[in-house]
Amino acid sequence: QELQMNLEQIEKGGYDHFMLKEIYEQPSVIKDTYRGRLHANEGLIKMAGIEDNLQKFLNADRILIIACGTSWHAGLVAEYIFEEFARIPVEVEYASEFRYRNPIIRPTDVVIAISQSGETADTLAAIKLAKEQGAFVFGVCNVVGSSISRETHAGAYTHAGPEIGVASTKAFTTQITVLTLIALRLAQAKGTMNNSDFHRYLQELELIPEKVAEALETNLVAQTIAAVYKDAPNALYLGRGYNFPVALEGALKLKEISYIHAEGYPAAEMKHGPIALIDEHMPVFIIAPQQEHYDKIVSNIQEIKSRSGKIIAVVTKGDTQVKALADHVIEIPATSDALSPLLTTIPLQLLSYHIAVMRECNVDQPRNLAKSVTVE
Ligand code: G6P
Repeated sequence: QELQMNLEQIEKGGYDHFMLKEIYEQPSVIKDTYRGRLHANEGLIKMAGIEDNLQKFLNADRILIIACGTSWHAGLVAEYIFEEFARIPVEVEYASEFRYRNPIIRPTDVVIAISQSGETADTLAAIKLAKEQGAFVFGVCNVVGSSISRETHAGAYTHAGPEIGVASTKAFTTQITVLTLIALRLAQAKGTMNNSDFHRYLQELELIPEKVAEALETNLVAQTIAAVYKDAPNALYLGRGYNFPVALEGALKLKEISYIHAEGYPAAEMKHGPIALIDEHMPVFIIAPQQEHYDKIVSNIQEIKSRSGKIIAVVTKGDTQVKALADHVIEIPATSDALSPLLTTIPLQLLSYHIAVMRECNVDQPRNLAKSVTVE
């Protein structure tokens, strides 16, 4: 009987969809991505692509990050991490805008291009432009030997393995892993982070795979919440700081695979527009781990509640304050603020997945979308 399983079922490894399989692969692929690079006990980060070009990074006046889609969201997380850890100014741009707007590119700029497929046409064109203007271009790609990995001067691969589901999941978390390693190495080289913090971050990062595994245990809760909101026509995602890009990514995942209109916003920007949309029909997914400015997010939640919005909050295990206000909470393990996107993303991926399945959408191949966009 088992021999009759078709190839696709075998490839899905017992999961109903590639997307779910890929969500569940995250603990192991994050580990694969830092293996050989992160040496927490020795207090070392070893990445050949960085060591060979360390001076270029250290002399950089700024870092320009170019990418599209989910990779662009990973770039936004990296902006916060690079500026905080290594104190290098960072700008993040959509490759499609960058390539056509006559941008200022200096030979002292380091450009980091992020791409899962390594084939995105806009990103490739932006890289060529940056090279023509004399910038050093570093690639963060998943597909080995891809066009972008060949076109860049140097790079560091993510080790996510093949990503089949059109909606990117494990590529996103492994991109953040690589970018965090780079930021930490530069912080060490520049002396912008004290030694004990540096060691603490290495240890925290090493623990992330097991905490992601713990975050995956929210699957049943996510499924229950999905059943409540699967028919919502709109959804709002809010987060602050490191988790603002996670809000954007959460909204993108829902749009892509369930066709529910969703928007991501920095929580404090809510009062400049989205708050007008809040009523008892609006689910608001709010990323509220115990982090800096936690009290601010609590007051954002109060504002939503007083307008009868439905609150689904991603919180740190043991949280009481948000729990008392929210309609539903999803608990994830504690970690440092900068690493929290690697955990807060997980339940949002699961929520989108279950909502799309319940709406009988084609999860792995959503309408109108392509896995890699090789034409304009
Ligand atoms: C497409 C995919 C997205 C992806 C984006 C960028 O839109 O559907 O999942 O994030 O392209 O792709 P890249 O391969 O450059 O990361």
